[in-house]
Amino acid sequence: MTTGVDGPGRAQIEERTLRTDRWWLTPLATFIVFSGFVVFATVRAFMGRDYFAEPYLSPFYSPCLGDCVEGASDFGQPFSWWPLSAALIILIFPLGFRMTCYYYRKAYYRAFWLSPPACAVAEPHSAYSGETRFPLLVQNLHRYFWYAAIVVGLILTFDVVLAFRPMPDEYAVGDGETSGVHMGLGTLLMAVNVALIWLYTLSCHSCRHIVGGRLRHFSKHPVRYKLWTWVSKLNASHPRYAWYSLFSVAVVDFYIYLLATDVIDDLRFF
Ligand code: FES
Repeated sequence: MTTGVDGPGRAQIEERTLRTDRWWLTPLATFIVFSGFVVFATVRAFMGRDYFAEPYLSPFYSPCLGDCVEGASDFGQPFSWWPLSAALIILIFPLGFRMTCYYYRKAYYRAFWLSPPACAVAEPHSAYSGETRFPLLVQNLHRYFWYAAIVVGLILTFDVVLAFRPMPDEYAVGDGETSGVHMGLGTLLMAVNVALIWLYTLSCHSCRHIVGGRLRHFSKHPVRYKLWTWVSKLNASHPRYAWYSLFSVAVVDFYIYLLATDVIDDLRFF
């Protein structure tokens, strides 16, 4: 049986859409911005260098489990035999989380596959199988990527704590020891980034279901009900957090790249 826009029961309209507004702007902007990020992230992930400028570690390389530069591995180097960039060892978790995100799915299905390009605009494909077959069946793993994202969020939070570490040339108290607190523009950027990543992770649709789903009576689960109301409020802004956190990850990585390549010096507040 024919499915999609040619399916029986669909209104037989000759025009592809009756919309007269600039509906194409959003998918076009999504296509450009998302493509730009993918190119940037791919280049940086494969570079395998300039990801650490003490005390800052790029989020693309955290945790650094491969043959990483000195000072970058706070959880050891169990994959020191790995011949490629250390980012490729852990990238599957944040990448899988974002690629299977319900909001990003909507965004890139529209922008890249035109399926459909916008509300009330017919898609060019004549058949529609949804997410019931491989490879799109994999999208159902989103909930499991969410658990991984919680771990990634905790590690990135730990990186922010480490970003307050004084560097050897600061606050030296002798014998290579240091004391005090470091605060630079890098620290600030990393802190903002991790806050946005937490907002994105905790506003996830799967998170909302995990904390408040499959309950018959909220009245018997007041704590989960409270959590569910908080997550539901965050959830309303999930698309915004998705984009803000995408930008912040790129900004932090690029800032650390500029520091690591000696293009700029870190702006130190104290
Ligand atoms: Fe977007 Fe889960 S729905 S991260």
